[in-house]
Amino acid sequence: MNAPLQGLTVQAPPYVRNAKLIAWVAEMAALCKPEAVHWCDGSTEEYDRLCQRLVDAGTFKKLDPAKRPNSFLASSDPSDVARVEDRTFICSENKENAGPTNNWMAPAEMRRTLQPLFDGCMKGRTMYVVPFSMGPLGSPIAHIGVELSDSPYVAVNMKIMTRMGRAVYDVLGADGEFVPCVHTVGAPLEAGQTDVSWPCNKTKYIVHYPETREIWSYGSGYGGNALLGKKCFALRIASNMGRDEGWLAEHMLILGVTNPEGKKYHVAAAFPSACGKTNFAMLIPPAGFEGWKVTTIGDDIAWIKPGADGRLHAINPEAGYFGVAPGTNTETNPNCMASLGRDVIFTNVALTDDGDVWWEGMGEPPAHAIDWQGNDWTPAIAKETGAKAAHPNARFTVAATNNPALDEAWDDPRGVAIDAFIFGGRRSTTVPLVTEARNWVEGVYMAATMGSETTAAAGGKQGVVRRDPFAMLPFAGYNMSDYFQHWLDLGKKLEAAGAQLPEIYTTNWFRKGEDGKFVWPGYGENMRVLKWMIDRIERKAEGTEHVFGVSPRYEDLNWTGLDFSAEQFDTVTHIDKAAWQAELKLHAELFQQLAHHLPKELPATKAAIEQRLAA
Ligand code: GTP
Ligand code: SPV
Ligand code: MN
Repeated sequence: MNAPLQGLTVQAPPYVRNAKLIAWVAEMAALCKPEAVHWCDGSTEEYDRLCQRLVDAGTFKKLDPAKRPNSFLASSDPSDVARVEDRTFICSENKENAGPTNNWMAPAEMRRTLQPLFDGCMKGRTMYVVPFSMGPLGSPIAHIGVELSDSPYVAVNMKIMTRMGRAVYDVLGADGEFVPCVHTVGAPLEAGQTDVSWPCNKTKYIVHYPETREIWSYGSGYGGNALLGKKCFALRIASNMGRDEGWLAEHMLILGVTNPEGKKYHVAAAFPSACGKTNFAMLIPPAGFEGWKVTTIGDDIAWIKPGADGRLHAINPEAGYFGVAPGTNTETNPNCMASLGRDVIFTNVALTDDGDVWWEGMGEPPAHAIDWQGNDWTPAIAKETGAKAAHPNARFTVAATNNPALDEAWDDPRGVAIDAFIFGGRRSTTVPLVTEARNWVEGVYMAATMGSETTAAAGGKQGVVRRDPFAMLPFAGYNMSDYFQHWLDLGKKLEAAGAQLPEIYTTNWFRKGEDGKFVWPGYGENMRVLKWMIDRIERKAEGTEHVFGVSPRYEDLNWTGLDFSAEQFDTVTHIDKAAWQAELKLHAELFQQLAHHLPKELPATKAAIEQRLAA
């Protein structure tokens, strides 16, 4: 089918048979007025060509092919380095459906706002048509999206992060459903105007229409703002799908853990952005844990559906990792470092003089490097000015298949059955290392009231404690209280059907000592906590019951191979009465904010904790 527009013909390739898709591409091309339309086929040749185009445009630097084969470094505009939560909107018909934790605008008003911004927004650029599947192609749990973007950086990242390409059109067929996602960097080129290496616009809109399942993104080329399959689709739109259809879209890693007896368990863990999901998903058990094995199913997002067996089955809708670089090294995360050997896109890390990359926490700093903003960087400069070689939210994009610890079922369309959920914030004080909820409602309470110190991934201010329910504060695509209700309802439904519900735990790897340093060694040592959880499921581990759950005593964890004293353990586990009284006031504030539709079980659980605390 052909649709003419100002001399440009939107000619779909013959294998694209979906009339709705073809009409929509024509309509969007007429609005955005690109110079050309490129239908991505997802081939390696196409990937290579687009990477070369990015090198020619100055967006990419090709890294040394001996040190990092087929890898590139992109440096963004200094203003475009993270998600923009204050520019992210849930445009439901009713404000109440977006809830008090989301920015809201009426859909009609938002459309009126975006229309002039998108009119001609792709002038002088190519519109890439990027077809992708979230989840294994053709899986009953998977969903298809198509992103239109004027950013070749987005196209190549989507190739790594999703199942992207021609096969998606086959699954889509003539009348299959897809989520339309439109993205522009918002930097049209007038005739003769030279481009910059990272085009973007200081005006940004990351917009979701939950009822019509559409995504419109304007002005940013970075991460979750621009790779629309990730947070926008797989969390904000998918959470709406999940509510309507009885499943969950969660900000969770998924891992497999096998004990020495060969029994395998699956754990899904929700930690806020930059709070350790990728690291935990790739954990290597330390000395003292011979026979234990951890394998990765996903590192950021889980789609979880009740199966015919009454259990919750999870898939990773993504196909790659868009992970935090700073802090990653061969000690903290050897599997991750091994994944980054080749075929990687790095964004906002430093370039070394020998054509490789470096970031804070990677190891021995180079004598000289070019920092993420293109300036000279040396350890001396860093010491004097505090300049960072890599931006704190610098990232790598890499295919899941690069991960040596990839689980054999990572691509299984049926997903894996979940045995435990973990919720874990970043808290310097107050919250103990690990707590087991005594039942589903108590677990939902702990997840709902979770607090975490903000990180560079969110943009804006860092290090401030905010409530981040279920690590979903920036990602729940509908009213947070309704989302809590959805979790409670699902638990009730499964319980009524006689199913064994997953255990629920909360963790905090980030308590600090008086010297301001983390007390818990974290990373691979988190295996000690994971083993306790698995043993609890098997009724093989003890703990002590306290005001809000069950935690291990010092003697309940395996300490082989680690020098960690009972005093240190007390620093990361003790429950301070005054601190918890203050903490519960913050829970009360959250519940006040979320009062509309707040499930009554939550204030009831809070009252019970308060009573026990006062006793
Ligand atoms: P997103 O991709 O933003 O969702 O982040 P994530 O949750 O996957 O976090 P990631 O594993 O990338 O870790 C973020 C930062 O936390 C990195 O700098 C890590 O080095 C650090 N980190 C991860 N796990 C631990 C831990 O157990 N202890 C400590 N102290 N730091 C950790
Ligand atoms: C996060 O912020 O939780 C991320 C990175 O995983 S981004 O894709 O930019 O959202
Ligand atoms: Mn994330």
